Order: sequence, then C-alpha cells, then structure tokens
Amino acid sequence: MCGIVGYVGKKKAEPILINGLLRLEYRGYDSAGIATMEKDGIKTIKNKGRVAGLLDIPEISNLEGTMGIAHTRWATHGKPTDINSHPHMDNKKTTAVVHNGIIENYVELKKFLTDNGYEFLSQTDTEVIPNLINYYYEKESGKTENSFLSAMSKAVKDLKGSFAIEVLNQDFKDKMFVIRKDSPLVIGKGDSENYISSDIPAILSFTKDFYLLDDYEFAVLSKDNIDFYDLNLNKVSKSPKNITWDMSAAEKGNFDDFMLKEIYEQPKAIRETIGARVSKDSKIVLDELDFTKEYLESIDRIYIVACGTAMHAGLTVRKILEGFCKIPTEIDIASEFRYRDPLVTKNTLCIFISQSGETADTIAALKLARSKGAKTIAISNVIGSSITNEADYSLYTHAGPEIAVASTKAYTSQITLLAILGMYFAETLGVAKEEVDKLKEEILEIPGKIEDILKDTSKIKTFANRIYQEKNAFYIGRGIDSCVAMEGALKLKEISYIHSESYPAGELKHGSIALIENGVTVVGIMTDPDLTHKTISNLQEVITRGAKTFVVTNQDLENVTFDEVIRVGKVSPYLSPVLSVIPLQLLAYYISKEKGLDVDKPRNLAKSVTVE
Ligand code: M6R
Repeated sequence: MCGIVGYVGKKKAEPILINGLLRLEYRGYDSAGIATMEKDGIKTIKNKGRVAGLLDIPEISNLEGTMGIAHTRWATHGKPTDINSHPHMDNKKTTAVVHNGIIENYVELKKFLTDNGYEFLSQTDTEVIPNLINYYYEKESGKTENSFLSAMSKAVKDLKGSFAIEVLNQDFKDKMFVIRKDSPLVIGKGDSENYISSDIPAILSFTKDFYLLDDYEFAVLSKDNIDFYDLNLNKVSKSPKNITWDMSAAEKGNFDDFMLKEIYEQPKAIRETIGARVSKDSKIVLDELDFTKEYLESIDRIYIVACGTAMHAGLTVRKILEGFCKIPTEIDIASEFRYRDPLVTKNTLCIFISQSGETADTIAALKLARSKGAKTIAISNVIGSSITNEADYSLYTHAGPEIAVASTKAYTSQITLLAILGMYFAETLGVAKEEVDKLKEEILEIPGKIEDILKDTSKIKTFANRIYQEKNAFYIGRGIDSCVAMEGALKLKEISYIHSESYPAGELKHGSIALIENGVTVVGIMTDPDLTHKTISNLQEVITRGAKTFVVTNQDLENVTFDEVIRVGKVSPYLSPVLSVIPLQLLAYYISKEKGLDVDKPRNLAKSVTVE
C-alpha cells in the first residue's frame, strides 16, 4: 500500500514526481504529497484526496527544486486528512520523510520521543521516523553524510514492522537517502539523474536500468551517483538490471481503463507465461526447478498459500496435484496459515503465489514455512520481488505489469503456470502420461480460445446493464467451477460494490438459499461434464424462487432456459477456469462502468497489500 517516488537530477522535480505519483496511485489514493529541496529549505505540499488535487494548490507552482520525494497514501494509522498525509517532518523541520509500510512499535517510539521533548502533529505511525532520525542525528558529533547515515541506521534499528523510506535533510541539498525492509522500492538509474519508486512501471518512461534494494540496504542518491550501504554502513556493490518491458505495457493505450486493457491482454500474458515451457511433443521445461522423482515421492503434502485472487488461482491446481500425482494438497489463506501452526515438515513443499510478490501475509507465511524446514517455491509476476528473494525456487508468470487493482491477467497466468507445474510433477513422477499429453495440447490452445470469447462481449454488457442496480448476487459451481465462482464473486464486489457471495452449488440449499428472492442474480459456472447436470438442478432451485440466472458454460445445455448463457471453448476441467473466468471479469467490469465507478481504483483498496 502507498506509493513513493523520488527524483534527483537537473530538471525541476515537481512535474516528475507528480507524473510518478499518478502512475503509482493504484497503490493507494486517500491522500498525496510532495517535498522538494528549495534554495531556502525543504518545502512540502500535501492534501487529502487524489494526486490531481495537489495541482490545485497554488504554492505548487513555486517549487523549483531539482530533488524531491513524494507519496500517495492508503491510510492505515490515522484517517485520510491533510495533516496525516505524507511527507512528514521532524519538529525542527529539517528532515522530511515519506514511508510505505507500518511501524508496529510506533506507540512506544512516540512515547520515547515525547519523553524527550518531541511533539506530534499527526495520528500516523510514520511521524516517529523523521523525529527519531533527528534525535540520533543531534547526538552525532558532526553534520556529515556519514553521521546522518549513522543516525538513520540507529533509527531504523529501532523500527519494528515494514518500511520503504525516502528521506530529505536540510544539510544535504543534493542528496536523498532511502532504505527498505519488507516493502518494495526500486532505484532507477538515469543520465545525470536518478529515480526512486515503489515499482518499475511508474518510472519506466525515464529509465530501463534498475537497482533492487535488499532488506535493510541504504542507498544515497545524488544527480550523478548512487551509493549503497548495509545497515552497518559498509559499502555494498550492485549492478543495475535492465528491464525489457515495453513502456506501452504500463500505459492504457486505446482502452478506457487498465482493467479492460488487462482483460484483453490475457491471450498475450498466457502465451508469454507458457513460453518455451510447453510444447506438444516434448517434456515440460521448468529449468528453474531440479526436482527428482525421489524428491517428489518423498513429499508428505503440498501447501499452496496466497491471498485473494492469488489464493483462488491456487485452488485450481489441486485437481492435478491430487488427481494425477496423488500428493495431498491444501490451499491456505496466508493470513491464516501464518498463525495456525500448520503441519509443515522437512518433507512438505510449500508454494506461495503473489502477483506483486510483496503481500505482507504471504511473505510472513513463506518465512514461517522456511523456518520449519520446508522447501519453498515462489510464484510471482515481479522479478526480484520479496517472495522471490525469500523462496528456495522462483517461477515467474510473464503477464507484464498489472496496474488495475482488480487482478485479471495475473490470475489466469497464475493458473496457467500452476497447471504447467502440476504437469511437470506428473511427468517427473511418470504418472498420467495420457492426461498430461492432452493437457499440453489444450494449454497451447487457450490463448486462441480467450480471443474467441473477447471477440463479442455484447451479451455480457447487456446483462450488466440489466442488473447493475441490484444489491446482491450469488455465484455457484461445482468442483473446479466453485473455485471460479469465488473469483467471480470477488471481482464483482471489489469493483462494483454489489454484495456477492460464492458457494459450491450443492451448499446453497444448506441455509443461504433463504436469501434468494425475486430478481436476485445467480451466476452459474458449468464446465465439468460430470457435474453440470447437478449444477443445473441447483440453478432450477433458484429460478423457482425468482432468481435471474447468468450461466457460463462449455457444455451443451438442452431443455433448460437461463436468462443469459455465455459459451466458452471446450477444454478439460483442469484448465477451464482460465476460460470461464473471462465472462465473469467482464460482467464485473461492465457493471462497475454502468454504475459510473472508478474501475481501476475501487474504494478502500490498494493494489499491493504490504500490511497485515
Ligand atoms: O500481489 P498479490 O497477488 O499477493 O495480491 C493478493 C491479493 O491482494 C489480490 O489478489 C487481491 O485479492 C486483488 N485485488 C483481487 O483482484
């Protein structure tokens, strides 16, 4: 949550910072602010609300400085107000800080500082940081860069929690200081200018060369130089990584919203994720792994751990891992897994899925699994992200940057990669050859089948227009379709604010059917030939009680009528979620548009959940 950006160079910093913030706004959009180093000291401008609101503040045009830091906030401690907005300064107005993350022990630190004469203006956890730095800096013998870094290091050692911090100090007119722990931060290297950002796409138009900071690493940036240090202020040497993403990947192009663009990018994202990993006549290639048959036979169970949509993707591979490989597989929510002492042994394989690779609960769950001796695999879309740094093995989806808060192409790419992983396990174990060969053929056809769905979306749009004013919706399916029902319901609620729930179709009549009344929408997903007739019966039960039905299927439905039926291509149930979810993504999207909502930045949410 929260986006931070920084610039030092020859140009005026303010427009560059605003541009970066606008691109980072998906990370949080409760309030925004910037601080620049001016001839007469640090100047801050901040306000409650969106980044664009900063441009309405007349003083912004006075900012001439060529170095600055900026922030867009997703409020955790303290309401979104002007005062709680970042940057925050110390009492002496010499140090400005922007922060992404949470300082868990801020109450104790605030007390310590208050006892030492410091006063606080905001309700935030962040405000302790500039004051703590100032506290230690005043105790240093000189006002050198080294003494400032030493003060920062002491302050950071006192902080518990997660942070990516940018700092300006009055004594250093041409230097910015940054440090991170468990919160994302990248440094972009330019020509006589350098950048800081919470993620790569925000500054991709300025540079393609990036440094990734490890936990507790400092960087000191000036126009022509970047120095790296560890927490004990030993110099660290680093080489930049060249990012090959094309800038258009982070732009809306001809689409109204990132979400729609990302829905349409799914064929490409899946093709890239498949890459050279699957071909019809040869074995699955996963060079990142070195698993043997003996190792796979020794696994006592697999845990797949993730949050939100990533967890929903995890659910879909159980059928392959248990059905083909006969390995007991549990899918768990990271925030639960980390606190329930799971049965993880040295023979357990734990797979963590996170588009961003920065989700706090997923990272903590991964650390827990490692501490119990399990082997760990990270599945992420972001190269060098925290979970990939922590795990024994990393597998990347190649979906390209996903900007909209509602995850779409990341989900279908994750399912694709998980299916490939499941096939790799089956092949290594020497089981289910026929089924795996069929799946290989099918997976290669998936992108084309998504393109077919996307060719004509008019029926989905019309249905959205019919139901957008409804208050409740239910999503049902059986087997793998119940996993997709969960994802469909999440998509609808997060971007359209319609209350939606999902159930395995057979479960509805055990209580929740009491909520079905005239006009309530029930979405049925039916792609498993063995289970379709069962779900049809459940849909009949709700139709009898007045429900409107929207069905997504690849089966031939005879003698039954639903309000709308969307057909997707035929594929076996192991892969069907990648197709059946597309109409559900579009339904949520069109409903949100009908309601006139901000599809890409739904209320109360942020793209990357770096807090518990
Ligand atoms: O970056 P991650 O994949 O770890 O994020 C996990 C969830 O926060 C995320 O999938 C969330 O549920 C999405 N907003 C859903 O669209």
